[in-house]
Amino acid sequence: MQLHFAPLQGYTTAIYRKLHHATWGGVAQYYTPFVRIEKGGFRNKDIADIAPHNNTDTPVIPQMLPRDAQELQQITLLFLENGYTHADINMGCPFPPVALHKRGSGILPYKEMVEQLLQATTRYPEMQYSVKMRLGWENRNEWKELIDILNATRLTHITLHPRIGRQQYKGNVDMEAFEEFAQHCNHPIIYNGDVNSIADIQKLQALYPQLSGIMMGRGLLARPYLSTLLTGDLKPSNAEIIEQTFAFHNALFETLQATSQGETQLLQRAHALWEYFLPHAPRKERKAVVKSHSATQYQQAVEKLFTSWLSQDMGDEIF
Ligand SMILES: Cc1cc2nc3c(=O)[nH]c(=O)nc-3n(C[C@H](O)[C@H](O)[C@H](O)COP(=O)(O)O)c2cc1C
Repeated sequence: MQLHFAPLQGYTTAIYRKLHHATWGGVAQYYTPFVRIEKGGFRNKDIADIAPHNNTDTPVIPQMLPRDAQELQQITLLFLENGYTHADINMGCPFPPVALHKRGSGILPYKEMVEQLLQATTRYPEMQYSVKMRLGWENRNEWKELIDILNATRLTHITLHPRIGRQQYKGNVDMEAFEEFAQHCNHPIIYNGDVNSIADIQKLQALYPQLSGIMMGRGLLARPYLSTLLTGDLKPSNAEIIEQTFAFHNALFETLQATSQGETQLLQRAHALWEYFLPHAPRKERKAVVKSHSATQYQQAVEKLFTSWLSQDMGDEIF
């Protein structure tokens, strides 16, 4: 069973993916945050994020957020020009500004739109496609109207997040609906949603041995080392994990320093990293990091956090 790293706009940037892969390994596929058409063209940051020179030595599938066949075509050509042979189609994004324009999970109630979109993939036999989706936008049965179309489309796999778009990330994942989807879907399935620990992964593996893989998002941002524990032959000690996490953070921070315009932006970006990173680290020290007012204060607080963490018995929380 493969482990995939979910696309997370604003977090899993090219440099993050590269550093994660180099530091920890264990992830079979990373996905780029979605590439979309804005005012007829591409956003510069999207082009930079998928540029081959920024993605060397990392297994990357670029993701697209098309609304119709024409956009799918435009984005497919961009990916092909950049040397990619696999594209992921986003039919899961729940954010209202996206979904209310019938993109992401907002396209799911519109069977004809989905059909036309997926039909357009047949124009590019040189490109492999996968789909990342939710159960629906308004209700948990919308996928039932689409399953024949999905099954008839040439896809490498479907990643299913078993919530509806309207839920955003609230409420529980709907495992009953997931099972029903899996029974009707002919494609390999990757499960996504609320997988946060080694125990969560093992539970899914035991319940669904036929799964092709598991995609983790926020859980891997929180505990980026989990991928190495799943696949590596050598099991690092807790202290080694923390030391490596410190080094991983510092490498990320260096790239932020090199690419930020001024200290305010640097701090903003560094603080944003901690929205999901290491929620289980010592509380007082973590608070000092996110409340720091200068780059120096930030770095001192981070160093203190890791030193203090190393001196404690971390127990099983780390996993
Ligand atoms: C901040 C944020 C940004 C996201 N960006 C994307 C995106 O660009 N493309 C996408 O398909 N999903 C995106 N997602 C959804 C995640 O890929 C994933 O499906 C979701 O977080 C649920 O998985 P998790 O519980 O393992 O985090 C985003 C989620 C969050 C919280």
